[in-house]
Amino acid sequence: MAAINFSDQTGPSRSHAMDSPLGRAAMAALRAPSILNTQPWRWRIRNETAELWADRSRQLTNLDREGRLLILSCGIALHHAATALTAIGHCPEIELFPDAGEPDLLARLWVGDAHRTTPDELHAFQEMLSRRTDRRPGPTSLAVPAHRLRELRASVEQCGAHLHLVREEELPVLMVAAEHAEQIESADPGARAELARWAHRPPAAREGISADTVAPEVVRRVPHRQFLFDGDAHLDPGAGNDRTADYAILFADGDERRDWLTSGQAMSALLITATRHRIAVNPISNVVEVAATRATLASLLHRLGHPMLGMRLTVATAPAPPLETRRSPAAVIED
Ligand SMILES: Cc1cc2nc3c(=O)[nH]c(=O)nc-3n(C[C@H](O)[C@H](O)[C@H](O)COP(=O)(O)O)c2cc1C
Repeated sequence: MAAINFSDQTGPSRSHAMDSPLGRAAMAALRAPSILNTQPWRWRIRNETAELWADRSRQLTNLDREGRLLILSCGIALHHAATALTAIGHCPEIELFPDAGEPDLLARLWVGDAHRTTPDELHAFQEMLSRRTDRRPGPTSLAVPAHRLRELRASVEQCGAHLHLVREEELPVLMVAAEHAEQIESADPGARAELARWAHRPPAAREGISADTVAPEVVRRVPHRQFLFDGDAHLDPGAGNDRTADYAILFADGDERRDWLTSGQAMSALLITATRHRIAVNPISNVVEVAATRATLASLLHRLGHPMLGMRLTVATAPAPPLETRRSPAAVIED
């Protein structure tokens, strides 16, 4: 089995807690994707547990007023940490919302029984670390096979959420919703200010979106958020046009904080499965940020659940886009 590298890319200052299994898991969870790469979580490692806290100072108060996408992002980090613990030979034990008096304490994670890591679990960990958002238009003639889409759906269901695969005849609805969401947010000065703050970030910022991971605007079936990059998006879009792209909606039975967190765990499971099968995932969240377009998505689900996130699924092409930066462990993990 390949050695596991928990390199934190930060240099010298590592505390004792960061060398513990929980510390290493929290460090690996830094790679979790988050809304606008805000990385809105903190870990506190104490008394043999790792506490996952929502970091409200990093909430997008215009784009994500209720904090739904913040908590969903934290759910991804939680699943990433559990995946890392499994890979280093421990059964992860998790309690969600362990303290009713502390709503921002989202979960407690601790080390359960020792466990012999399987090759699949080790691969899942490596896929988790190598995954990245791919915003380039997908290939013109190669689609994700239907059985793989069903596998993505199964990975989500295992975590207690659901995945609606958008049918061809439903695409115009998604397309109109995406256009509408873009118009509403670009006419909102608060939303624009937030996008301006979190995009256009130099790599040294270790947060937000850099020009290197965004492709210039191209015509697509379903328009994507442009992050207000104005001619300075650096990622080569390649020759794709999204003609064979699939679209999906992650949804949950309820619309409470627990559902948001569980949806994040499910999204992490989907991303790991997608990376294994060379499926590129581009989350599309403006359609769930705007109340009116979120309601449109709910109508596609025939009101069977609550939309949490849209996404585009395409066959991944090489070379992969660059890795987006992350905060230092010292900024995120306390002991
Ligand atoms: C809840 C959530 C919403 C997101 N919304 C979008 C989106 O609307 N458009 C987009 O291009 N990327 C979106 N992303 C991807 C993030 O921008 C991306 O994960 C982050 O910049 C880190 O980059 P990485 O995924 O390559 O590690 C979203 C991710 C999450 C978790």
